Amino acid sequence: MTARGEFSSRFGFLMAASGSAIGLGNVWGFPTNAASNGGAAFVLVYLLLAFGLAHPALMAELIIGRHARSNAVRALQGLATGPGTRRLGTVVGLAGIVTVSLILSFYAIIGGWMLAWALNAPASLLGLTSVSSWLRADSVTRNALFDVFFMGLTIVIVLAGVRQGIEKWGRRLMPSLLGILLMLIVYVLTLEGAREGLAAYLVPDFSKALEPGLIVAALGQAFFSLSLGVGTMLIYGSYLSPRENLSTVGWMLAGLDTSFAFLAGLLVLPAMYVALANGVEIYDASGALAAGPGLIVSVLPALFDTMGLAGQFVAFAFFVLMSIAALTSSISMLEVPVAYVVESFGMTRRRATALIGGLVSLVSLTIVFNFGLLFDLVVTLATEYSQPLLSLFFVIFVAWIWHRNGVLEELQKGHAGVENTLFWRIWPVYMRFICPLAILAVYVQLIFL
Ligand code: TRP
Repeated sequence: MTARGEFSSRFGFLMAASGSAIGLGNVWGFPTNAASNGGAAFVLVYLLLAFGLAHPALMAELIIGRHARSNAVRALQGLATGPGTRRLGTVVGLAGIVTVSLILSFYAIIGGWMLAWALNAPASLLGLTSVSSWLRADSVTRNALFDVFFMGLTIVIVLAGVRQGIEKWGRRLMPSLLGILLMLIVYVLTLEGAREGLAAYLVPDFSKALEPGLIVAALGQAFFSLSLGVGTMLIYGSYLSPRENLSTVGWMLAGLDTSFAFLAGLLVLPAMYVALANGVEIYDASGALAAGPGLIVSVLPALFDTMGLAGQFVAFAFFVLMSIAALTSSISMLEVPVAYVVESFGMTRRRATALIGGLVSLVSLTIVFNFGLLFDLVVTLATEYSQPLLSLFFVIFVAWIWHRNGVLEELQKGHAGVENTLFWRIWPVYMRFICPLAILAVYVQLIFL
């Protein structure tokens, strides 16, 4: 059995874990959800749910992972108190592995689009018009090739291991991501129309905040954004040094993720209204604001086209940003099944990564070839139904199945005196009753809505 990986420092962990959390969900999902759900009203509900419900679920995964120093299946089995809870642990862990593999298989398709659009900018600058129009057209061939390309990049990084792959690329890519985002925000805010976009984002429309779909959307967004329910944060927590203060790290991670989502809104919404000012259609047939694929691969490129030469540079920066955001997230998804196969079947990391990477690529290609039938279905099943439900079980494991002193001992490792903090006073009641009931309440809404 090979030694387990460990992140080299708190900074290394934060770059890797925020790399997982900050992804297409932040740059794409959050701003468009905000735009179509009452702007700042959505942002407020989101903040409440992200810190009230998603953050505790994040803590549950980090604590279990660091305690067990193992993948989700083994970790949950280890907390079990009898054959029943052991079986439950196995089922939850395995369901997480299946869910995250499905998430990766649709995520890689979008990641591939981002790569294609990033290459399109230099192609059109160099005057390669036929290459450029091929890169821009939504063809099955292009989507399949770039899907495999994106999976290839993900596989290469995960092959290199925790420190040499995941942490190294997190350290390199996350600061660049922030740099590119800030540059783009500053630039877009100088353009005509940006103010209306800021208003749509920051002025709350509370009538929309009360619509029933909003809370469900905000909760799904929060759990997706923090990569919860599938053992991603659990496995990253298992690579965290026992000397680290888990509660600090958890707050920092939730804070980084939320701040980044908020910043991305300062780019995407103003950009949409700049597009409107430039004559680009930003509403769809039903009169709703464009969201999802329509926004990123049609509204924004149309905007960049109206901006002449500068537009191609901005387009390049924007799609490189999206590609980086997607890649540091996809590696965290692939790590979940890979760690499981390495630890539970004794396979080498190389073989496991190649094998699972290959399998996920096949599933992903199946979705590419049956896009209309499968894409939305897989997204909805994995992110709306599976993720919150599995998160609920992680919380239940920590609060009900694991002995309370176990949690405390784990927290004390990096934080002497944690038992006297406000955090620990609130934690037990909060984790046992409030958090699971609230997740359940939202989940019931989702099913019966
Ligand atoms: N959080 C990432 C984003 O916002 C996506 C992600 C990475 C993810 N790992 C995950 C989502 C695990 C769900 C589960 O884009």
